[in-house]
Amino acid sequence: ARLVVLVSGSGTNLQALLDAIAADPSGYGAEVVAVGADRGGIVGLERAERAGLPVFVCRVKDHPTRAEWDLALTAATAAYEPDLIVSAGFMKIVGKEFLARFGGRLINTHPALLPSFPGAHGVRDALAYGAKVTGCTVHFVDDGVDTGPIIAQGVVEVRDEDDDDGGAALHERIKEVERRLLVDVVGRLARNGYRIEGRKVRIP
Ligand code: GRF
Repeated sequence: ARLVVLVSGSGTNLQALLDAIAADPSGYGAEVVAVGADRGGIVGLERAERAGLPVFVCRVKDHPTRAEWDLALTAATAAYEPDLIVSAGFMKIVGKEFLARFGGRLINTHPALLPSFPGAHGVRDALAYGAKVTGCTVHFVDDGVDTGPIIAQGVVEVRDEDDDDGGAALHERIKEVERRLLVDVVGRLARNGYRIEGRKVRIP
């Protein structure tokens, strides 16, 4: 399967996918064909360039309207003819054009146990709420924010000392689980195929 990965930051989820593919190029069942971002100058793009991959940057501010940004992101992604798009720390909500083109083939990873703590601050919100466990969720993207059908989740304990650093250590512990979960899910979706039945995802 051809993957396009969308990033906005350090790209450690992207790196986990690249490392898994490099470790088993014929067996993993997918290859990253391009990496897209909503901003330049991020480590995620450096990781892509280091891997010799094509990259594209679609910045909202470069377009007169959000809808035109959505169109540009859709066209830039479609140029690589992806089978699956992986939003790995991509911090923009894609628009209806992108969903019309890639809905059902677009997955996202979120650092909380959805439906709890959706949105851009899931780690901090779980910590502030006093949750005793949190974790990460890999899900298909629908027209809501972090509301699409859940594919897999991983649980991470919250520790008392996590209150001391605003959730940084907790987020790192979540990302360790998240990277393994994403690599496992993407490989299974690519190798086995899948069916989305309402809110359920079936991977044979
Ligand atoms: C991940 O935890 C993702 O769930 C969240 O931001 C983080 C991105 O990390 N949205 P990276 O850029 O993959 O290192």
